[in-house]
Amino acid sequence: MSRLDSVIRRLSAQRDCLQAALHHAPDGAFLEIGLGNGRTYDHMREIAADRDIWVIDRKMTAHPASAPPDAFYLEGEADAMLGALFARIGRSVALAHYDLGVGVPEEDDPLRAALTAPIARLLVPGGLLVANGAFEGMTPLPLPGSVAEGRYFILRAG
Ligand SMILES: C[S@@+](CC[C@H](N)C(=O)[O-])C[C@H]1O[C@@H](n2cnc3c(N)ncnc32)[C@H](O)[C@@H]1O
Repeated sequence: MSRLDSVIRRLSAQRDCLQAALHHAPDGAFLEIGLGNGRTYDHMREIAADRDIWVIDRKMTAHPASAPPDAFYLEGEADAMLGALFARIGRSVALAHYDLGVGVPEEDDPLRAALTAPIARLLVPGGLLVANGAFEGMTPLPLPGSVAEGRYFILRAG
């Protein structure tokens, strides 16, 4: 598969998994971990306009039209910012989207392992994590039919 096809599949999987998770998300805030250009954040605020959406990134590189309000943006390393968010809102997140990583398992796997607990403690009971990789100890939920197994993940803590 060409890298172009691979990117198209990844972006479709993000959109379809966010849409599917939205229907099962309990009450609570949303959280974008990895703002980047702001594409998925912009999609989240479009499909869930009634939710507070918190955003974490180590650096603001979003398109100006996709930048979150300052009050909902935490800039810094994910582990520290997840801790800062917990101190602020406690267990209040109904749906988090995790989009960190460089596509290299040697780097991405340890990062996901290190962030599992700080993410899980933010999730309300029944809260969901939509992610670009597997998270040990979380329960994978069925994917939309359009998303190949292992391409993207919808997870429930516990
Ligand atoms: C793939 S991009 C996110 C793309 C974004 N979801 C979108 O749709 O445009 C990953 C982002 O995660 C951020 N990032 C990577 N590792 C991080 C870390 N350990 N802590 C905080 N931010 C990190 C990078 O700065 C980058 O902006």
